[in-house]
Amino acid sequence: MTSVAAFDPQDLRIRPMHADDLRLVERLSSSAFVDLEARLAPAGQEAPSGRSVQAAQIWIARTARFLDSDPGGCWVAEVGDAVVGFATSFRRETTWFLATYAVATPWQGRGVGKALLDAALQHSRGCVRGMLSASSDPRAARRYKLAGFDLHPQMTLSGTVDRTAVPELRNLRDGTPGDQEWMDSLDRGNRGAGRGRDHEFLRSVHRLRVIDHRTGRGYAYSNLDGVQLLAADNRRTAARLLWDALAAVPPGRSTRVAHVTGANQWALETGMEAGLSVRLDGFLGLRGLKPPAPYLHHGALL
Ligand SMILES: CC(C)(COP(=O)(O)OP(=O)(O)OC[C@H]1O[C@@H](n2cnc3c(N)ncnc32)[C@H](O)[C@@H]1OP(=O)(O)O)[C@@H](O)C(=O)NCCC(=O)NCCS
Repeated sequence: MTSVAAFDPQDLRIRPMHADDLRLVERLSSSAFVDLEARLAPAGQEAPSGRSVQAAQIWIARTARFLDSDPGGCWVAEVGDAVVGFATSFRRETTWFLATYAVATPWQGRGVGKALLDAALQHSRGCVRGMLSASSDPRAARRYKLAGFDLHPQMTLSGTVDRTAVPELRNLRDGTPGDQEWMDSLDRGNRGAGRGRDHEFLRSVHRLRVIDHRTGRGYAYSNLDGVQLLAADNRRTAARLLWDALAAVPPGRSTRVAHVTGANQWALETGMEAGLSVRLDGFLGLRGLKPPAPYLHHGALL
């Protein structure tokens, strides 16, 4: 196996991802993100842990779907017989999305990421819009900006919810497949593309709550860790959906509301009222789109 020290860029091979690669690339991404978190964490902060077994299974199932729907968007980088990085991307209607992108820590900063992103971007040909969620890694920001994405800082709210602050909530219900059509049209307004069958996957792993009322429409997917995706046609409806998700977090359990851009002040206001604290956390990268609002994107399904 080629060592990092002896690496010659000519040894790098970019090839399509196969189903056989899924377990390995999941492990690679988990450790690349743990290493990044440890690198960026303030001194004294608890060491980050990797993905749980259940989260790893969900990650693999989600990535297998990208391989099925968008084989041309999923690539791995090899040096000798070792997989050292990968990128997965997909198209929905005329928007291209980058789902995940990582290079094994020892191989970072050597041009592997550029070659992978170039391959994934081939899959964006003919798409008028693009969207990705960037970590706080300055290498990622550099790659995305140089690839023509506008970078919008995003924030993460976290903490335990002050339950005395939860308002009375009306007109919410569990979502059904019958809601998908209007949910897709909301997404077309926000990101230029509906989700189609991605809703099936989201429903299989998250709780779906909706408001479909004369005062507004919106939907939110969440799990025990917090809200994972939220879209609405007005801020008040969005805030009610967020409160509903926060109220469902078991008492005392810490929660996270990630991917809050400056265009979503309503989410900051709700989070502050709920007693959560805020920190900067990466960028939303956009091409041919304005920062969506009211909208909290999904990290991989955007
Ligand atoms: C982001 C990532 C995939 C990029 O892959 P990579 O192989 O490191 O990327 P490259 O070497 O092709 O490019 C990195 C660029 O950043 C520059 N760079 C390296 N270290 C840097 C640093 N500390 N600060 C700023 N720029 C840096 C490099 O010079 C290079 O720019 P150049 O090509 O113009 O010279 C990889 O670093 C990674 O896995 N990071 C952790 C996980 C992550 O953040 N993934 C992205 C999720 S959105």
